[in-house]
Amino acid sequence: MQAYSVLFVCLGNICRSPLAKGIMRDLVAKRSLVDHVHVDSCGTGGWHIGEGAHQETVRVARGLGVELEGHRARQLQKADFDKFDLLVAMDSSNQREMLRIAGDNSCKVVLLREYDPSPSSLDVPDPFYGGEDGFLEVQDIVFRSCERLLTHIEQQLSCTTLPEE
Ligand code: 4NP
Repeated sequence: MQAYSVLFVCLGNICRSPLAKGIMRDLVAKRSLVDHVHVDSCGTGGWHIGEGAHQETVRVARGLGVELEGHRARQLQKADFDKFDLLVAMDSSNQREMLRIAGDNSCKVVLLREYDPSPSSLDVPDPFYGGEDGFLEVQDIVFRSCERLLTHIEQQLSCTTLPEE
């Protein structure tokens, strides 16, 4: 099986995309795909570069058994569009900013909630200025969307694997 790389992108890289990264890495491990699916995250903005994840994000991640200790925020680079197979935007504003710098790689950009089995909107709401409930809502949306996204990636990987001789 080939390797596939996924980059989750939000605005600040301290709330939504670090949570998506942690949840997806956990799902990847549980499905024994660690050697095949690589996961990272970043933000379109640079205000929080070098910071850890937001404390509420850390808390809701921990509720799922996911640790975000090693996370350090970083900003999206043009080179990320060459490095990653799929760049997953948390909302349509992030997606617009990504498409602005994607160049020939715009087809690699998707919205996470395209994979949400029950989307009420295509945006993962920004929880930064809200309370605890906002982070729990993000946790639900991100978890169910990542499960379905990973199933889609697994199908892609099995399609691109040649049968053993
Ligand atoms: P995130 O949330 O994009 O999910 O990491 C935000 C974090 C910081 C800010 C906005 C959203 N901010 O304006 O600093």
